[in-house]
Amino acid sequence: MFKIRKFTVEYLEKNCVTDNKLPRFSYALECDENEVELESAILSCNGREKEIKDVRIATYEGEKLKPFSKYEATLKVKTNKGEEAEAKVAFETGFLGTKWVAEWISDPNYQFVEKKVSPIPMVFKKTFAFDKKVKEAKLFITAMGIYDVYLNKKLASDRYFAPGFTSYKTNLQYQQINVTDLLEENNELLVPVAGGWAVGSFIFTRGNRNAADRQALLAELHVEFEDGTNEIIKTDSSWEVTLDGPDREADFYDGETFDARINIDEVKFHQAAKETLKINPTLYAEMGSPVIEHETLHYVSKNKIENGKIIYDFGQNFAGVLVLKIKNGKTGEEIIIKHGEVLLPNGDVNSAILRSAKQTLHYICRDGDQKFKPRFTYMGFRYVSVEGIDEENIDLEARVIYSDIDIIGDFECSNPLLNRLHQNIMWSAKSNFVEIPTDCPQRDERMGWTGDISIFSQTANFNFDMTRFLEKWLKDVQAEQLKTGGLPNTVPANGYGFPATMPAMAIDFWGDAILNVPYQLFVRTGDLSFLTNYYENMQRYVKACKFWAGLLSFGKNKYIWRNISTFHFGDWLTTDIPKMGAWQARHKYTATASLRYTTNLLSEIATILNKPEESKEYKEYSEKVADAYVWKFMEDGKLKGEEFQTGYVLPIQFKMFDEATNKKAVNNLKSLVERRDYCISTGFPGTPYILYALADNGEVETAYKMLLNTKCPSWLYEVKVGGTTIWERWDGLDENGQANCGDDGTHGMISFNHYAAGSVGNFLYTRLVGLEPVEPGYKKFRVKPVLTPEISYAKAKTLAPYGEIKAGWRKENGEFIVDVEVPIGTECDVYLPSGKVETVKNGKYTIKEKLN
Ligand code: BGC
Repeated sequence: MFKIRKFTVEYLEKNCVTDNKLPRFSYALECDENEVELESAILSCNGREKEIKDVRIATYEGEKLKPFSKYEATLKVKTNKGEEAEAKVAFETGFLGTKWVAEWISDPNYQFVEKKVSPIPMVFKKTFAFDKKVKEAKLFITAMGIYDVYLNKKLASDRYFAPGFTSYKTNLQYQQINVTDLLEENNELLVPVAGGWAVGSFIFTRGNRNAADRQALLAELHVEFEDGTNEIIKTDSSWEVTLDGPDREADFYDGETFDARINIDEVKFHQAAKETLKINPTLYAEMGSPVIEHETLHYVSKNKIENGKIIYDFGQNFAGVLVLKIKNGKTGEEIIIKHGEVLLPNGDVNSAILRSAKQTLHYICRDGDQKFKPRFTYMGFRYVSVEGIDEENIDLEARVIYSDIDIIGDFECSNPLLNRLHQNIMWSAKSNFVEIPTDCPQRDERMGWTGDISIFSQTANFNFDMTRFLEKWLKDVQAEQLKTGGLPNTVPANGYGFPATMPAMAIDFWGDAILNVPYQLFVRTGDLSFLTNYYENMQRYVKACKFWAGLLSFGKNKYIWRNISTFHFGDWLTTDIPKMGAWQARHKYTATASLRYTTNLLSEIATILNKPEESKEYKEYSEKVADAYVWKFMEDGKLKGEEFQTGYVLPIQFKMFDEATNKKAVNNLKSLVERRDYCISTGFPGTPYILYALADNGEVETAYKMLLNTKCPSWLYEVKVGGTTIWERWDGLDENGQANCGDDGTHGMISFNHYAAGSVGNFLYTRLVGLEPVEPGYKKFRVKPVLTPEISYAKAKTLAPYGEIKAGWRKENGEFIVDVEVPIGTECDVYLPSGKVETVKNGKYTIKEKLN
């Protein structure tokens, strides 16, 4: 059967509301037959037709789009064998830059001045009635803070934390919610708004009011009546507001306090007033991936510990919220629930490692049976402790929440520990794709650390459709780039002061996200806009890196990036030296290697964008950096000073050595790895590359010994001792299951849910299975497995823009067998153990070869 698999507009199959005046379309195909060719693919939308046969991406070319309108695009495809398929995708436009008639409103009496805490949630109210039949009603809404909408007591959208987390000073999303079905003759709109990221306490310094001094709301209800007339109900001083609702406290880190005794119908409201914001962001229709509920988890065990608390274990570390079901509640009874990732020796939840975050729910009961689920916070946890209620009167389940991102990839092999490692990578990704790519979901951070997503993005793209999620984040990266070209370490910065104190800062590996993240999206999708839209930002960043590297240096030292007026994280979180200062002292190596990487990548991007002169310039610079690294740090293929894994891995991976030096360096890396008993000791920068540096340079056995090692520190040690996610530190838990947080200068920084080291997922796909794009968008890809006797089969799949790719190999009855599914319009090179390469066009193939 031949069919269209995924026809999208702005990378969405449905519910697209956009302010992009030139939305993009994409599609994939599915077919059972082999060697089918696409003869024609016609996209029509709003009066224009366009042929999109060779690529899977097209930009809108129809008549000028109008605001608040509905459109439909049709795709008709035909193969050389005469088969045809058709698909449609609908989308709506939002404001398209037109003016809002509504005014921002707030509670005029609320002077929120307390430091380091989040404000009391506000509840806005509007009542209205219609005497005509409503055809359609759409609510356009945004806030300073995070909001929920209840229309006639029903939750109008199950999205968490709207309007989402952006760089509020410049970018603010609004949502369109279709509320037609919730309307009655007499209506009551209730909109609780908590502090969220814009007003609430955020970042480990716990600053608040980062974007606004108090919560504010902006909303327009566009109503179309059946008689053809229209009406807009908008926020203005006819709305009412109160601070006396049942939500008493709401904070991302600390949790929520909910007083169920308070009936909102009995609360006194007062008049809201026009609010003048201290910022002036551009409003645009939601373009990211909204946070919603996904899996429901049930606890796997429960037990009462000595201090009387009941401890529940959900068997999995994740980001989410609890659902509380309470029987026979008594008015005023207070239930306290603490969330944590690991337990203390006495069996209680370890809250100390959360630093200032409390991750606690306080629920004050009313009489009778009741149910509660927090809406304005989330927690990173596996365990909870419950106190204040008898065990038989409470039941708990958990909802896993993360951004609405499609899971498109999977990996499996004959080694169960590696399969669990893959699951752990998936769980850490889910837990940290909450509105923005965060570092961790539990302690007082949950920030958009650029370095973490930069090194993880390649793995993420195999497993998830990251396009919308990352594109929205990149809009903020662009907005936050300093005039000098540097980038904040976290995006949105949202009050993180560090870059402000060093306005010229450009940081290796972390700042490299501005090149790496769009480039990986381009490789994944083949969508050139990911390069064209950010090229200038990439250039400005690289210019800043070059400037700071060369400052006050002469000769070859100009290409060695040291700490002069800049800051670097160095070999962040390596295990071979115990202090943060020592990790950072390795910055000369990491920053110089990063300079090589970014200038080389920018040269490649410039070539793709047909800018040969610029490409040449970056290439030449990049060569000089490579040369300087050898001159400064190497002697006959050996690091001159202390030897450390990252110091070898980066120059090997970034091809900074000539052949002879490389050979020696690989050998030295191998011996270093052997001396550490195949344990890993790379920090953030080296971790994604160490296995490649070995395996791609003839040291396959060493690479696999390291990957399959279960001694600490290693990827599989975490799995062996029961880790269900990827940890921040290689040695996060000791053999007794206790958190390992000695004082190394990081103030007890330890998280069990950090995806950065999960970047090894890329190796599982591209080397163990061997699946790797050769041309952008997988127009051409290869299956080139790197084999080890330890593993008898490995397989993976991913949804590429042309269609689903499946690739796998197995050793069976003396044969090596490859199964591969190649989408229409693509080509795959299959490499066999003998060295033979078979090229196949679309279809399903099984290719065999005798093993000796
Ligand atoms: C975060 C990291 C981040 C780092 C910067 C930490 O506190 O959790 O993942 O990249 O700081 O070095």
